[in-house]
Amino acid sequence: MKIKIEQWDGQYDDACAMQNIAELCNPILGTMDRQNILHFYRGVTKGFAQSTLIAKLKNEICGYALLCPGASEHTVRLVGGVHPDHRSKGIATKLYTEILERIKQHPSKTEIQSGTLKSCPAGTLFLKKLGFTQVDQGHWSSRSVTAPFPSWAIEKVMQFEKASLTIVLGSEFETLRADWDREWWSLMMSANKDIPSTIPFQPIPFEIWRPRLNPPFLNRNHSLIALDELTPIGVLHLDDVVNGKINICYTGTASSHRRRGISTVLKIKSFELAKKLGAHTIGTFNHHKNPMLHINKRLGFEQQEVNLEYLKILK
Ligand SMILES: CC(C)(COP(=O)(O)OP(=O)(O)OC[C@H]1O[C@@H](n2cnc3c(N)ncnc32)[C@H](O)[C@@H]1OP(=O)(O)O)[C@@H](O)C(=O)NCCC(=O)NCCS
Repeated sequence: MKIKIEQWDGQYDDACAMQNIAELCNPILGTMDRQNILHFYRGVTKGFAQSTLIAKLKNEICGYALLCPGASEHTVRLVGGVHPDHRSKGIATKLYTEILERIKQHPSKTEIQSGTLKSCPAGTLFLKKLGFTQVDQGHWSSRSVTAPFPSWAIEKVMQFEKASLTIVLGSEFETLRADWDREWWSLMMSANKDIPSTIPFQPIPFEIWRPRLNPPFLNRNHSLIALDELTPIGVLHLDDVVNGKINICYTGTASSHRRRGISTVLKIKSFELAKKLGAHTIGTFNHHKNPMLHINKRLGFEQQEVNLEYLKILK
């Protein structure tokens, strides 16, 4: 059977086809609202349009592979998948061979990172065969939004309130300071330096990062900012409710305010917000060496899936 590899036409139908495959390959991710799909794919592949590829069998999209910015300026991230009905036909190998050709248009990129679920042995075998080495792990976990809070967490909320710290919605924070977006960026960039990832994080310039404060990347009504007077000292992002589940996509505390319960209080407030938004379950993803994993376990999150992270140095 003839497999055809084509560049994504940048249009809605093929973006939906890619996302359908992505969701079949990663059920833990849930379903993305198709209204946002075009904006999402155009956003993540910005600068890599020529490396956003679809594989077709008899004119039907059966696989895709794309490149997007990685964790450092030398790293590019490879994302892709093959429809379960069309596995073991050489589609992923063909996509990867073409991706390697297209990476040559980005000579500054010397490493490729990629990930696969631990529950998908085909994914790990595929990446190993291509010469990728496992460098990291991330854990998906979830809890009911109505599960009771442990007493130590309630104690941290009381200490937080005593210290006259407050929590506001992201949409409210933007009415409090003219430079709210720069402050948000600066807090996240400095907190991200401490994520214990094997691939060191490099700050993203404000102008490039700024669109991430807008849908489909962020709903500011679904985000919380912890404030010390008007200075943001903690941030938490929730995504949208899908089939009763909502994910915490990010939590960070300013290094000046760590170990004062800020992220614990943000989590507790996020459970309340999640409930208000109609979710029954809240999910999250953590690097396996991140103290956040420990906080989450103590708050009653239970592990559901493990993501394995791989890296390959390009010759
Ligand atoms: C992880 C992070 C958000 C924790 O924020 P925080 O506000 O300091 O956390 P809390 O004060 O609520 O901590 C609650 C409990 O978690 C555990 N904990 C937090 N940080 C820890 C650390 N560095 N080492 C060990 N345990 C830690 C402790 O049990 C702590 O309770 P204790 O202080 O009474 O012992 C913060 O270190 C951070 O911003 N890191 C960089 C960004 C990041 O990794 N974000 C998470 C991934 S999205």
